Amino acid sequence: MNVLGIETSCDETAAAVVNGAGVLSDVIHSQGVHARYLGVVPELASRAHADKVVVTVRAALEEAGIARPDAVAATAGPGLLGAVLVGFCMGKALAAGWGVPFIAVNHLEAHLLAPLLEDPAPAFPFLSLVVSGGHSTLYLAQDVGQYEILGQTIDDAAGEAYDKVARMLGLGYPGGPPVDALARQGRADAVAFPRPNPRPLSTVSRRRQAVARSELDMSFSGLKTAVRQHLEAPDRASDADVCASFQEAVVDVLCGRVEAAMARTGIRRVAIGGGVAANSRLRERIAAIDGVEACIPPRIRCTDNGSMIAHVGRLRHLRGQSDPLSTTARAAWTPGTP
Ligand code: KG4
Ligand code: ZN
Repeated sequence: MNVLGIETSCDETAAAVVNGAGVLSDVIHSQGVHARYLGVVPELASRAHADKVVVTVRAALEEAGIARPDAVAATAGPGLLGAVLVGFCMGKALAAGWGVPFIAVNHLEAHLLAPLLEDPAPAFPFLSLVVSGGHSTLYLAQDVGQYEILGQTIDDAAGEAYDKVARMLGLGYPGGPPVDALARQGRADAVAFPRPNPRPLSTVSRRRQAVARSELDMSFSGLKTAVRQHLEAPDRASDADVCASFQEAVVDVLCGRVEAAMARTGIRRVAIGGGVAANSRLRERIAAIDGVEACIPPRIRCTDNGSMIAHVGRLRHLRGQSDPLSTTARAAWTPGTP
């Protein structure tokens, strides 16, 4: 059973075909148009998706050697709604034209389950750290569609912190890859940046408790501010040392939460996904956690791609699930909820 997956929720126009044997094609067009604005401009993203979605889907089908899939899956959210709608409507139109089922896919669920495309795939239950430009969440995945949020950022996402630090250093957008590369040349102990910790719930006021829900929650906005303040100081460290020290702080926070979640749940299987999961230091440090059974997908399946969307579509289709063509796109959507 071949499933076509279409992804247009942010700044990648992507399409892929997946079946029981694995990924048959995975075509990604990254939009260059946003670089000069140092961030994604929603209107430009939607237009660029509209320009590229047809050729991207066609290329994915051609590469897979098929003319018509058995089902079409498309990202329905969360994401930039105008951008999401381009691939979502394209997917519905193709499904209607071909007379095949349509599956509306949650983008975060796709990141969360992308590690299942690997061999060996992690068995349920497993912990999944999804760290992207808009989200940083630690899930307990019990089964397809059954996810518990163990902790999440209470302010900036990890990828957002990377993008903001890159902007301060004039490294362009997206910020993760250049900061990661420069960090490799610096000293991680050069600057003692904070490891922001939402305080233990028992010490937090009732009002704050509503925000700081879990001791596995994370916070990155203070770290970003600490980098800004350091860069304004007269005796600041080199860019490479700042990147290395910032990166170590982010990775310390993320790995600390994973270790705490392993201890709390007794689950040793840990998967990572989302753009920040392409980070070289995070990949090293997750793999080195004591007693971990780590599932670290190739970088290309961490950043936005079509195969993760097709994959969730296939898993849902195998369970006899599909969505009516009247289904709508959503800007916000928690994985595992309707
Ligand atoms: O999952 P993704 O491709 O798109 C969203 O769903 O947001 O994640 C994009 C984020 C960006 O913030 C980007 O800077 C970050 O992932 N990123 C990285 C790396 N590659 C991409 N962050 C750190 N290190 C990297 N190597
Ligand atoms: Zn993503």
